[in-house]
Amino acid sequence: MIDLDYIREDFPILNNIIYFDSASTSLTPIQVVDAMEEYFLEYNSNAGRGTYKTAIKTTTKIDQTREKLASFINCKKDEVIFTKNTTEGINLISNGFDFKKGDNIIISDIEHHSNFIPWLNLQKKGINIKIAKADKDGLVNKNTIYNLLDENTRLVAISHISNAIGSIQDIEGIEKIVHKNQCKDGTNTYLLVDGAQSIGHINIDISKLNPDFMAFPGHKGLLGPVGTGFIYIKETNQDYIYPQNLGGGTITNTDFKDFKLEDGPQRFEGGTQNLGGIIGLGRAIDYINNIGINNIEEYDKKLTHNLYESLNSIDNIKTYGNENNNSIVSFNIDNANPHDISKILDESKNICLRSGHHCAIPAIKHIGAKEGTIRASIHLYNNTDDIEKLVSALKEIIFLYS
Ligand SMILES: Cc1ncc(COP(=O)(O)O)c(C=O)c1O
Repeated sequence: MIDLDYIREDFPILNNIIYFDSASTSLTPIQVVDAMEEYFLEYNSNAGRGTYKTAIKTTTKIDQTREKLASFINCKKDEVIFTKNTTEGINLISNGFDFKKGDNIIISDIEHHSNFIPWLNLQKKGINIKIAKADKDGLVNKNTIYNLLDENTRLVAISHISNAIGSIQDIEGIEKIVHKNQCKDGTNTYLLVDGAQSIGHINIDISKLNPDFMAFPGHKGLLGPVGTGFIYIKETNQDYIYPQNLGGGTITNTDFKDFKLEDGPQRFEGGTQNLGGIIGLGRAIDYINNIGINNIEEYDKKLTHNLYESLNSIDNIKTYGNENNNSIVSFNIDNANPHDISKILDESKNICLRSGHHCAIPAIKHIGAKEGTIRASIHLYNNTDDIEKLVSALKEIIFLYS
């Protein structure tokens, strides 16, 4: 495994805790905090508005983050729309697309609520929701989706990596099937991918995955600050999505009767954005690029495998998913409530991990874990020492429940 131990100094919080909750939000490196501090202390101003030097600097920095994100996922700059998180991106599509009564949408039974509730909510408008069932390891077979597609299927929404199980979907295979499907009006079915758990952990190449829409957080795998995210909307699809936040920055002209929307991504970004956060996100992309996403992918995969095998080797522990899980291992201890275990780990060893349903009740029902799971999620600042400490702490606790 490549050695990433040298970066731990960039995350001073690691002096106090062992952090296994990156799937919720990742730790922020000093360099990102410094970039935000510099913005607030040295050139705090709005973007895309003023013509004075300080405002131009902010506008340029925001523009640079858009460029960096586009190059990071291999899409065009104008296909990147800033949001405050993944959820906002998905809601932009569910509310902004002109779904018609009688359309149907396919989602899976292992989605996070953010890629589940926005679609369920459309039932109120007469849209039908079909559920693609995953297998026991949390994988959605492309044939399962194929069997649900029909001439009314307007969109398929699926996550790249499940936040509750860690299973990684074959998006390239699913994409081919989805895009081949034709609706009765002659258009093809759209594909939305929830990239909340994949970006920053594995290399995302939009030209290969070929989604119509892909929603991302800035604050998870990318190591950006909370309150940042973005959505990729294919350029040719942008006219089909109606902006949900009209106002400053979204139009080129108006009279008392009408208005003309901006052509670019700005039409979706009404009002003042989280500028400090977006600047921090730009610095986070530099940070990831300096290490190399392929190195991170290799590191995270090996570390997850180590974590999965280590937990699996403990009697009375049940893990979910399989050895290909990515950056997430969900597990349970026989007879124990997951919240109790999480509390004990925190109080006795300063080990932070999440317990419960992880905002993914459908996924938790799918794996039959009544009270949820304990979830250990990792990123590049974790190491084998962290895993050994977790395993040894669990071994100390387990006898209480046997
Ligand atoms: C798969 C998945 N989708 C969506 C979300 C929501 O992300 P955000 O908090 O960025 O809106 C999460 C958060 O954990 C997630 O894991």
